[in-house]
Amino acid sequence: MPSLAIIGAQWGDEGKGKITDYLDEKADLIVRFQGGNNAGHTIVADGKTFKLHGLPSGVVRPGKLAVIGNGVVVNLDDLGDEIRQVLDAGGSIDGLRISDRAHLIMDYHKRLDGAEEKYRGKSAVGTTKKGIGPTYQDKIARIGFRAGDLLEEGLLKEKISFVLPYKKDLMEMMGAEACACSDGDLRAKMAGWRDVIGDRICDTSVLINDSLDSGRNVLFEGAQGAMLDIDHGTYPYVTSSSTCGGGVCSGAGIAPNRLDKVLGVVKAYTTRVGEGPFVSELFGKEGEELQRKGGEFGVTTGRARRCGWLDLVVCEHAKRMCGFTSLGITKLDVLNGLSEIPVCVAYEIDGEEARHFPASIAKLGRAKPVYETLRGWKAWDDTAAMVKGGYDNLPGEMREYIEFIEKYLKVPADIVSVGPDRDETIDRKGDWWSRS
Ligand code: GDP
Ligand code: IMO
Ligand code: MG
Repeated sequence: MPSLAIIGAQWGDEGKGKITDYLDEKADLIVRFQGGNNAGHTIVADGKTFKLHGLPSGVVRPGKLAVIGNGVVVNLDDLGDEIRQVLDAGGSIDGLRISDRAHLIMDYHKRLDGAEEKYRGKSAVGTTKKGIGPTYQDKIARIGFRAGDLLEEGLLKEKISFVLPYKKDLMEMMGAEACACSDGDLRAKMAGWRDVIGDRICDTSVLINDSLDSGRNVLFEGAQGAMLDIDHGTYPYVTSSSTCGGGVCSGAGIAPNRLDKVLGVVKAYTTRVGEGPFVSELFGKEGEELQRKGGEFGVTTGRARRCGWLDLVVCEHAKRMCGFTSLGITKLDVLNGLSEIPVCVAYEIDGEEARHFPASIAKLGRAKPVYETLRGWKAWDDTAAMVKGGYDNLPGEMREYIEFIEKYLKVPADIVSVGPDRDETIDRKGDWWSRS
């Protein structure tokens, strides 16, 4: 029953899509367990680029089961568009399964997302405006629609009769764009969704656990990153789901002892989209240079990503919250050609050194990065040749950088990524699907 979770160690966009795609060749199921189409995962393979939001990255390879777990929030209109994109590219969604417990993102959630942001004014989170927060709010408030509801007309009718008037009142109060839709309109919309994906809805916890029992390989694909976790991230500048290790269990319906390995994806520097504290952020030329070289523009919203040096205080926090057993270090090539590279190893807060990431955003606002400066390395001409030569062929200073991270976090960097393509990857472990 080997199982492997892939989780972002920073504020998202670490390259989880690429690493998932690299490792899922031998996986039978690829499972999303939290978040929704706020995610934007890029896969570059066989000359094609896929940008996936709500679909698990597994849809790119034929013959896999691509599972949307109960912890995910799903926008079925947007999912339809994404499915068409995959089909147009010659892919297949035969293996798509959606949990009957997954909550549905409705149009009013998107409108409320925008209205809430307006209310916050200068304290706005900078959300993706995909309706993620309001959908999770409804889940907790016990008034959400779940995918399984689509299969129960009576239940749906009753729910719509009290949820829709409530949401209309709320939208009016919040100054959100009004919703003219009637109970009948909403029932018709849901019937349309049922016709398209009704046969994909099932108890995915049973599917996943049965698969593990029968020795199949299951890969859990995280969205966002540890620092955007609703509990452990930079609250309130976070997303509304559990992005860390525990989220895999609650969001996929597996017990903790069924998870064998957790791969933390660490970008070789740090980026963040939206608002919130970022201690090692770079302003001016250096930040712009990282943004340009790394192509740091959001896949979902197109917003420029804020950039800064690698922050190991952040990564240590992520490691503790997720239980990383391996690291995948991505985008090392973006640092090529720098003469030296600072790495944040601690914070100085109110005159004291802190090595653990604090909860308070006020403290984080006063935190100054403590840097250790490592040697940079020269750019290379031929990535394919570099990758073919394996880890030992990498520039010595790059290996020093990688080994500094390993030593600080006490986790092996089993994957080293030096380009966006599936092939631009050095795998130092090989057998990901054994139990050890
Ligand atoms: P995700 O949300 O974690 O899946 O990451 P995104 O897809 O939002 O952003 C990562 C970006 O970096 C994508 O454009 C990837 O194609 C690209 N990428 C991933 N790994 C590497 C790498 O090692 N080097 C370079 N240059 N780009 C990479
Ligand atoms: P992937 O999976 C980076 C950020 C938003 C905002 C905050 C809350 O591609 O790494 P939300 O719409 O979730 O309520 O927004 O979270 N955010 C992401 N940042 N990568 C993501 O996903 C993100 N998903 C949400 O920018 O700051
Ligand atoms: Mg992304």
